[in-house]
Amino acid sequence: MKKSYKIAVLPGDGIGVEIIPQGVRALKAAAAKFGIEIETEEGLIGGAAYDATGSPFPEETAKLCAAADGVFLGAVGGPKWDHVEPSSNRPEGGLFAVRKLLGAYANLRPVFVFDTLAENAALKTERVAGGFDIIFVRELTSGIYFGKPKERREVNGEIVAVDTCAYSVSEIKRVAHKAFKQAMMRKKLLHSVDKANAMETSRLWRETVAEVAKEYPEVTLINMYSDNCAMQLLRDPKQFDVILTDNLFGDILSDEASMLSGSLGLLPSASLSDTHGGLYEPIHGSAPDIAGKGIANPLATILCAGLILRNVCNCPKGDELVFGVVKSILDDGYRTIDIAKEGDTKILNCKEAGDLVVERINAATV
Ligand code: IPM
Ligand code: MN
Repeated sequence: MKKSYKIAVLPGDGIGVEIIPQGVRALKAAAAKFGIEIETEEGLIGGAAYDATGSPFPEETAKLCAAADGVFLGAVGGPKWDHVEPSSNRPEGGLFAVRKLLGAYANLRPVFVFDTLAENAALKTERVAGGFDIIFVRELTSGIYFGKPKERREVNGEIVAVDTCAYSVSEIKRVAHKAFKQAMMRKKLLHSVDKANAMETSRLWRETVAEVAKEYPEVTLINMYSDNCAMQLLRDPKQFDVILTDNLFGDILSDEASMLSGSLGLLPSASLSDTHGGLYEPIHGSAPDIAGKGIANPLATILCAGLILRNVCNCPKGDELVFGVVKSILDDGYRTIDIAKEGDTKILNCKEAGDLVVERINAATV
């Protein structure tokens, strides 16, 4: 079994540069517990890369990522770059480029609630307590984010902006397979979310998912419109297990669902590819409002370290260790400010949270 892995580390912008070092420390500490060596090399992406090189995804970063076993990314973007032209040079262009380069078409976003944080959730405790455990499988390298044309043009003397939503059968099939495979490992329940009452891509999505479903007769498939899904997530999150959806709906619905867990700062994601070890990033953004203060919550990023161990290093026990340590810290009442309530006293800043995680990983018996 391979025991040494190269991870490309792309901190990016804003709080990315604060949380990523904590994630990397946790990754190395947990890997070491299982005799796995992690070699990291940093690269520039997003606004930081644009400032240094004129591109949000320089060639050097592309080479680093392509050669790595996995890519660990912080966050990109910030008001400083909101008006960069052309728009493909904005920090988010770097994110789209790395997703595309790696062929990371299946973005897995688990949304769960730590029992001890059930009161933090945006819903009444009884709706979330006792747990819900949802995994979004969001299509990540196609749809309206990538379709061409994507442009502004003048029509009848005024400016018209166009984005194109396009999906091919093969793009839908491959992500659907990933979702059905998740469902087979879980409760064998899959909600496929689309807007087939309004969109042609959604009608093709629905037909194609129905075809793929024939290969997974044990899985119950429920089709749901995206507007209804937005409502159902708040009404009764426990009805869901695996949610398969396209790039744009997946972006919006997963942010909504994150509030069921109390904080965007707790949720990791893995973007899987058939040709590369994939991309691992927290689902939150660069949080320019708190960047530079050292108070960001690194736990989502630390949970990504667990997903790297599971998916890149073939070490699910490493993921369980990281998850268990994060849970123990929360159970013991430690909080970063985004999840703190009045009266909480064990408040950790970003580095302190990382310190505590590493300390507990090192002390664990595996
Ligand atoms: C995400 C982010 C990105 C996305 C933004 C930064 C372009 O919101 O990863 O969910 O929409 O994909
Ligand atoms: Mn998003």
